[in-house]
Amino acid sequence: MSALFSSYRLKDVTLRNRIAVAPMCQYQAQDGFVNDWHFTHYPSLARGGAGLVIVEATAVSPEGRITPGCTGLWKDEQTEGMAKIAASIKAAGAVAGIQIGHAGRKASVNLPWEGDDHIPADDPRGWETIAPSAIPFGGALSKVPREMSVSDIARVKADFVSAARRAKDAGFEWLELHFAHGFLASSFFSAYSNQRTDAYGGDQAGRNRFMIETLAAIREVWPESLPLTVRFGIVEFDGRDEEALGQSIAVIKQLKAGGLDLISTSMGFSAPVGNVPWGPAFLLPFASRIRSETGIAVASAWLLDAPSDAEKAIADNQLDVVMMARAMLANPHYPYQLAMALGKENPAWTLPAPYAHWLARYRSNNGSL
Ligand SMILES: Cc1cc2nc3c(=O)[nH]c(=O)nc-3n(C[C@H](O)[C@H](O)[C@H](O)COP(=O)(O)O)c2cc1C
Repeated sequence: MSALFSSYRLKDVTLRNRIAVAPMCQYQAQDGFVNDWHFTHYPSLARGGAGLVIVEATAVSPEGRITPGCTGLWKDEQTEGMAKIAASIKAAGAVAGIQIGHAGRKASVNLPWEGDDHIPADDPRGWETIAPSAIPFGGALSKVPREMSVSDIARVKADFVSAARRAKDAGFEWLELHFAHGFLASSFFSAYSNQRTDAYGGDQAGRNRFMIETLAAIREVWPESLPLTVRFGIVEFDGRDEEALGQSIAVIKQLKAGGLDLISTSMGFSAPVGNVPWGPAFLLPFASRIRSETGIAVASAWLLDAPSDAEKAIADNQLDVVMMARAMLANPHYPYQLAMALGKENPAWTLPAPYAHWLARYRSNNGSL
């Protein structure tokens, strides 16, 4: 039996295997509303055999979008389309998850293939950005954000709560809060972007406060029976990895005490300072330390799609779930390919019956019907 293809239970939810499709922005929404592109894209990923499919970073408010094409759950009318996506993921045998977030000072950006830079101030497609401090990210993201007032902070937390409620109403069973990648929550956490002197800054405890309070508020509306998870940047690769890991472990323990069920480890990307050691499974040693030192369930992405790496990460108890992104775009049936590559083919672990039955016969009957 393959470890990667063993089922995984978290709260009342069971994944058919340990493979998750990581959230991936599609930049195809209009005014936050999903459309036929999303209705095609998401079920195809689920049909391909993953245990969990997490819908892309979905904004909790219009200003929280990364680009004008990002999906949203800031109004009730957006729930219906999302419900269709959740139902289609479930129909293909996967658990339906969604990531919600606010892009903070990395908002109001052109689509990746149209520049990936801030929309100019005089362009009506752009909007004012907000952040803990009025410090721009840098490089192509040079727009200076407005420093948030305490009432702005309260409003954004409330927006997170409303979006979480809509995600539940839409039928999602796995919620991921986007606290990574230099977006709003992670810019509160990072001293690069948070130079406040009030209760939401000042020291690391102050910089943690936005995340702790947001999680607590969402815990009130998100069912206890369903996984509440966070994607978090555990390291910046800025030359102070041990210090960053220590800070990450401390805040993850606090989040765990506040009701967090799983952490999806990623990188901070809080400032353009990192020297990322790109290579197969490069983040895994850090992710696995988070798992052993906090005792919380851990998922991780980043070049973990090679069959032996993914299998070993689970078999060696380094991770609970392996996230994969780009390999799934290249081949939405990648989980089935993984099963075959591991010499463990059993389509029932991955594919729905209408595919699994015929593929099993095809392989055992030398191609005859
Ligand atoms: C097209 C694309 C869109 C992405 N959008 C998101 C997103 O919405 N939220 C997020 O947390 N990460 C996003 N990411 C990062 C992926 O979730 C993942 O962490 C990254 O691609 C590394 O995993 P991989 O090596 O398996 O591709 C995106 C990546 C890609 C390629």
